[in-house]
Amino acid sequence: AKVRNKKMIKKGIILSGGMGTRMSPLTKAVNKQLLPIYDKPLIFYPLSILMLAKIKDILIIVNKGQLNQYKKLLPDGRRLGINITYKEQVAPRGLPEAFIIGEKFIGKNNVALILGDNFFYGQYLTQKLLNCVKLKKGASVLLHKVKSPEKYGVAKVKNNKITIIKEKPKKYVSDLAITGLYFFDNKVIKFAKELKPSKRNELEITDLLNKYKRQKNLKADYIGRGGAWLDTGSLDDFYKTSNFVSAIENRQGFKIACLEEISYLNKWISKKDIRSSIKFYGNCEYSNYLKKVIA
Ligand code: G1P
Repeated sequence: AKVRNKKMIKKGIILSGGMGTRMSPLTKAVNKQLLPIYDKPLIFYPLSILMLAKIKDILIIVNKGQLNQYKKLLPDGRRLGINITYKEQVAPRGLPEAFIIGEKFIGKNNVALILGDNFFYGQYLTQKLLNCVKLKKGASVLLHKVKSPEKYGVAKVKNNKITIIKEKPKKYVSDLAITGLYFFDNKVIKFAKELKPSKRNELEITDLLNKYKRQKNLKADYIGRGGAWLDTGSLDDFYKTSNFVSAIENRQGFKIACLEEISYLNKWISKKDIRSSIKFYGNCEYSNYLKKVIA
C-alpha cells in the first residue's frame, strides 16, 4: 500500500456565503448552496471535490443565520467519514476572508479553498486533485477556458508561467478563467490579512494570488477540455448545470457527487455507515442509490 505523504493538504474550506442576490427570490430564505442541482443540494458538489482530493477535515463557512439549515443537512460529517466544522461570515467581505475566519482551523497547515457554488466534473479530475494536494510551498490554481472571461478572475499564461492575473477584466486579457478551487501554503493567512478591499469593497482572491505571483510561487494547472467547470451564478446557468447532472446520471445510472459513495470507495466508511445514511435521508431515490452502492 502507498504511504501517504504527511505533507499533503489535509484541510479544506468551503466558502458557502454570499447573498445569492442574482437568484432572488429563491435565495431570500435559503442559501443558494442549499438549492438543488438536479437531485442534490449544490453544496454536495464542492464537498465531493474535497473528498475526492482525500481531504477529510473540512470547514464550511456560511452566511450569518444559515447555520441551522446546513447542520440539518450535513451535521458533523461523521456519517460521511469526515470532520465538518462551521463558521459564520457576518458579511460577504470577499473570498480571502475565508483564511482570516479559518485561521484557527488552518493552524500551521496548508489548505485548499473551494467556493460553495463551483461545479467540477471530469475523467481525470481526481488524479489532478491528488496532484494539487501535494503542494508544499506557494499556491496553485486550476484554469479553464471559457467563452465569457470577463465574468471571472482570469490568468494569462506564457511559457507555462502565469504572467497576468486580473479580476473580471473589462478588456480582454485571456480566456483562461481561474476556477473557484485553490491550494495555498500557510502564508495565505498572513497574506489575506494584508489585503485591502477592492473597488467593490471586497477582499479579492486575485489580489491574494498576485502576492504569490510576485514571489514566483504561483502554479497553474488545467482542468482540460474534457472536463467541465460549470457556472451556477445566474438562474439560467443554475438550471443548465442541473440539466448536465441529470443527463449524465440518467444515461449512465451513477450519481455525481454522492458523498457516501465517495467516502465508501475511499474506505473511510463501512456498509453500516451507509445504512445509517439511508435512514437519515429516508425513503427516496438517493437512498435507493445508496442501497445499490452497498449491494
Ligand atoms: C469569484 C472570484 C473569481 C473566480 C470566481 C470563480 O468570483 O472573485 O476570481 O474566477 O469566483 O467562481 P465571484 O463569484 O465573486 O464573482
